[in-house]
This record gives sequence, structure tokens and C-alpha cells, in this order.
Amino acid sequence: MEKKIVYSAVQPTGNLTIGNYVGAIRNWVTMQNEYDCFFAIADMHAITVRQEPAELRRRTLELAALYLACGIDPAACALYVQSHVSAHAELAWVLNTLTYVGEAARMTQFKDKSAKHADNINMGLMDYPVLMAADILLYQAEYVPVGADQKQHVELSRDLAIRFNHRYGETFKVPEPLIMKGGAKIASLQEPTKKMSKSDENPNASVYLSDDRDTVIRKFKRAVTDSDNCVRALPDKPGITNLLNIYCAFSGSSLEEAEKAFEGKGYGEFKLAVGEVVADKLAPVQAEQKRLLAEKQFLSETLSSGAERAFRAARKTLSKVYRKVGFYRGE
Ligand code: TRP
Repeated sequence: MEKKIVYSAVQPTGNLTIGNYVGAIRNWVTMQNEYDCFFAIADMHAITVRQEPAELRRRTLELAALYLACGIDPAACALYVQSHVSAHAELAWVLNTLTYVGEAARMTQFKDKSAKHADNINMGLMDYPVLMAADILLYQAEYVPVGADQKQHVELSRDLAIRFNHRYGETFKVPEPLIMKGGAKIASLQEPTKKMSKSDENPNASVYLSDDRDTVIRKFKRAVTDSDNCVRALPDKPGITNLLNIYCAFSGSSLEEAEKAFEGKGYGEFKLAVGEVVADKLAPVQAEQKRLLAEKQFLSETLSSGAERAFRAARKTLSKVYRKVGFYRGE
């Protein structure tokens, strides 16, 4: 039986956090054998807010190396850079003609980003979800693993697929979002009722995948908790609950086991244990990422073969779309 298609992408901006690791990267790794996966580094989305060109280029490569270091197998899935496959921009153009200005203007993330970058509300920012729909629909993806903040964008992709199919005849698979729970569970270390974010201004709020051991341990030591010194996951203890979730995500133990292990122990000891288990997991990933970044040739070949594989799939959909909308394709 044919494998179902999964599509996801990540922007090469900001520093990835342990929330991204647990919520996104780890899920990609577990899905890569079961599904036919396309994983992109969304550099075209990234430039909808201002980027330093040299830094964008560097982060793109670092992100590719990181995904490989985390266990993404380029033989099992297509790992590629979005701008290497021009069909994304081409399909986005067609989908633009099916997207109403009003619906794009109503997208939550567009409104948030417009408020945040009031001096640069560009067309690309507004078009971001349409480009994302093009990403997904090009590959006829069945499932789109994303964080909860991207659900509205996947819903727009569904609407556009349905609209196109209705107007021009059956062409696109209507995708389903797969909302990843793991990452959503990891909160800020400084404001544990908020999600841990790679764009948080307070560097102590997030543990980055690039943090060294001392930094990881220090950040956990400073994590905001409460004063009753009891290591239990309870609704009125968001700080400790978050640390327990992180501990479980990185050690593989269950909540009950973790609560039992730290029964009667103080917060100092518990925070140190969380820091250690996270640092122990990150160390080999960081070492492998560093090794890969020194292998520039290998990385660039891996990304080109990923792009070729993506292009072969994308081209099929795009030529079908061009035919359906009435573009002259020769006799
Ligand atoms: N917008 C997504 C994010 O910031 C990244 C992304 C771009 C994406 N294209 C996609 C995710 C297609 C899923 C499918 O997280």
C-alpha cells in the first residue's frame, strides 16, 4: 500500500528551543518511516520579516544540520530548502487568485505580526498563509504536523483546496492538521503559563538547543516555581508541572515515576536533575550538528537531492494546476 504523505516545514529564524525539539523535530523523526515525508526549511516564509542575508543563509544550513543530527534520515524523506523548488512560488500565485483579501487580513498571525512589525507590513506577510497552502497542496499532503499556532493556516489550506477543486475540478487532496501535543506542553521557564517560544525576549525563559551544559543547568536553576517545595504536577503549580513535563519528555519516565523519584526532595535537587537530563540529551545532538556543519559538501548534496525529490512531486501537481486553470501548455 502507498504510504500517506506528510508535509511540514520550519522557518530558519530564531533559535530552536527544547519545546521545538519535543513538539516538532522528534515527531518528524518518528513519522519519517511510516509516511512519505517532505520536510522543508521555509526560507521564503522567513523573508516576510526582515532578515540579515548572511545570517539567513547560515541559519538555513545550521537548521539542516540540526535536523540531520536529530535523526532525520535523508534517505527516508525529502529534506530540502523551500526556495530550491520554485513551484512553491508558482502555486502560491495561482492560489492568490482564490484567496480573498478579507480572509487573509483576518488571519490571527498576520494581525499579530503586523502589530509587532508595524513599520514593515508587506504583501508577503499577508500572503504568508497562501504560500504555506501552496507548500502543503503541492505535495498532496494528507497530514500536516504543526504547532497549535499554525492550525488556522492549515485550515486556510483546506479551504483553498476545496475552493480550487470546486472551481476547476478535483485536483488537491484536502490536508488535515496534526496538532502536536508534546511541544505545546512545554512552557516558558520564567512565565510557566505561557508557551516556551524561540522568539521570547528573555533568554532565561527558553532553553535553546544550542545552549551548553552550564547554560542549561543555570536556566533550570533559575526557573520560576512556587514556595511549597513539593514536586507534584498540580494545576496550581504551573512551574513545577512544566519542569516535570520536561523531565519526562527527556528521560522517558512517566509522570508518576518522576513524582515518586522526587518525593521528599527539594526543588534545588529536582531542578538540577531536570537540567542534567536535558543537557545529557542535547550534548550528542550538538556534537553531531557541529560535525555535519564541517561537511559542507555532504550537506549541500543532501539538500539538493532532497530538492530534486520534492521537485518531482511538486511538478506533477503544478502542471495539473496550470492545465486546469487554462494556461496554454502547447499542443
Ligand atoms: N509557518 C510554519 C511555522 O512558522 C512553517 C511552515 C511553512 C509550515 N510552510 C509550512 C508548516 C507548511 C507546515 C506546513 O511554524
